[in-house]
Amino acid sequence: RGAGQPTADLAGRHVVISAGGTREPLDPVRFLGNRSSGKQGYALARTAVARGARVTLVAANSELPDPAGADVVRVGTAVQMREAVLAAAADADAVVMAAAVADFRPAQYAEGKIKKRDGREPEPVALVRNPDILAEISADRARPGQVVVGFAAETDEVLANGRAKLARKGCDLLVVNEVGERKTFGSEENEAVVLGADGSETAVPHGPKESLADIVWDLVAPRLF
Ligand code: CTP
Ligand code: CA
Repeated sequence: RGAGQPTADLAGRHVVISAGGTREPLDPVRFLGNRSSGKQGYALARTAVARGARVTLVAANSELPDPAGADVVRVGTAVQMREAVLAAAADADAVVMAAAVADFRPAQYAEGKIKKRDGREPEPVALVRNPDILAEISADRARPGQVVVGFAAETDEVLANGRAKLARKGCDLLVVNEVGERKTFGSEENEAVVLGADGSETAVPHGPKESLADIVWDLVAPRLF
C-alpha cells in the first residue's frame, strides 16, 4: 500500500476505538485524571474511516475535533466508558482500547464541594478499583472472532512487562509504548512495539501517530473473522 492510496480493507467492518483519559470525580469541581490527549485514539479513528470502516469512537475528555465520518460517544469516567464500549462492541468486528482508563476512582463522591476546615488536616482520599474494560471485552467476546487490541505504556522492562500484560488481559494484540519524559503523552509522535498473542512482535519506528494507527489496522485486518 503506497502513500495516498487508501485501501478499503476495513469496508463493511465495525470498529470501536476508545480514546482520551477518564476523569474520576471527587466532588463537583475536582477529579483524578491523567495526561492522555486522545491523539492516538483519534488517529486510529481517522485511519479506520479512511480504510472504509464504520467507526465508533468512545472519547473521554479529549479536546480534539470529532473525526469526520465517525460516530463519537463522549464519556467522562471509567464506568461510563465501560458502558459505552460494551454497548458499541456488541456488533463490532474489532475493539481497540487506546484510552487511558483510570485504575482507581475515589470511593466517595462528595455532592458538595469539599471545603478546608480551619486548623484541620485534610481527610485522606480512599480509592476503589475501576472495572478492567479490556480484560472484560477480551474474556467475553461479543461475537466470535472479534479482534481485541490493547495499549500499554511502560517505563521499564518494556517487552517483558508487555508480554505479561498481553497474557493477563487476554487480548489479541498489545501496542506497547515506551514512555518517559517528553515521550508519548501529548506529543505528535510515538514509538512502539506491537505484541501478538500468537507470539508475533512488530517494531514500529518512531513516527507520527497516524503511522502507528495504520500499522495497527494492518495487523488487525488479517485477523478479522
Ligand atoms: N484498561 C482498561 N480498563 C482499565 C485499565 C486499563 O480497559 N481499568 C486498558 C487500557 O485502555 C489499555 C490496557 O488496558 O488498553 C492497558 O492499560 P494499562 O494501564 O497499561 O494496564 P493495567 O492493567 O492497568 O496495568 P498497570 O498496573 O501497569 O497500570
Ligand atoms: Ca493502568
